[in-house]
Amino acid sequence: MTHIFAHRGAAGTHPENTMAAFEEALKAGADGIELDVQLTKDGEPVVIHDETVDRTTDGSGWVRDMTYRELRKLNAAAKWNGRYGHCPIPHLEEVLAWLAPTPLMVNIELKNSLVAYERLEQKAIAVVHRYGLENRTIFSSFNHNSMRLCRQLAPEIETALLYMEPLYDPWTYVRAMKAEGVHPYYRTVTAAFVMDAQRRGVAVRPFTVNKPKTVKTMFAYKVDAIFTDDPRQAKEWKEKTP
Ligand code: G3P
Ligand code: CA
Repeated sequence: MTHIFAHRGAAGTHPENTMAAFEEALKAGADGIELDVQLTKDGEPVVIHDETVDRTTDGSGWVRDMTYRELRKLNAAAKWNGRYGHCPIPHLEEVLAWLAPTPLMVNIELKNSLVAYERLEQKAIAVVHRYGLENRTIFSSFNHNSMRLCRQLAPEIETALLYMEPLYDPWTYVRAMKAEGVHPYYRTVTAAFVMDAQRRGVAVRPFTVNKPKTVKTMFAYKVDAIFTDDPRQAKEWKEKTP
C-alpha cells in the first residue's frame, strides 16, 4: 500500500513547513509529513526549505546568519495574503513534540547540500530520540555523506537517498550507503525500477507528485510512498485506485 506524505506539510494549500501545514496533513488523513531542516546562527534546527528566508517569509537573509530569536519573529505565512495570520518558522522540536502523539510518520530532510551545517545530523537525531520517534522517522538528504553519517550515528533510524538523476548501479550504491530507501525525482521512476527495488528490500518514495496522472501512475507502480503537496486530493485518488 502506497503511503501519502504531505510535502512540506500540505504545501499546496497551506504555508509550507509551518504548523498550519502539518496540522492540515493530519486532518487530511496523510500517513506522514515531510519537512526540511536548516540550522540557525546559534545552532537551532529549524524547519524551512531554503537556505534563505526571502521566498517564504517577510524577512530576508540567510538562516545561518540569524539567531533563533531573530528568525522566530518572521512570518512564514507572509505570502498568503493574511489567510493564515502569523505562522512562525517552527523549531524541529516543536514539530516532533506535536507529531509524537499522532499516528504520523515523519521524513526529516537535512538541507545540508549548500551549507555544511555543523552537527546538523547529531542535533536532528537527538530530537528524534527525545520523542521516541525512531520507528516513525526517515532521514533523507541530497547530501549522501550526511546520510552515511546518520546511519553510523543512529543505525536504528531509517535513511533514504534523495536524487534528481538516475543513479548508476543503484543497488550496489544503496547497499554501500546502508540506506533502506531511495527518494527519486518521480520522472526517473519506472515500474521495472520499483519492482527491482522492492525485490531487494529497498523502499521507493518519489517526489514531488501532484498531477492526477502522475499520482495515479505511482499508485499503479505500487511505490512505497509519494510526496505530494495536496495529501487530501491524493487520498481521494488513492481510495478510488483498484
Ligand atoms: O524529500 C522530497 C523533496 O522534498 C525533495 O525536494 O526541494 O522539495 O526539498 P525539495
Ligand atoms: Ca524537502
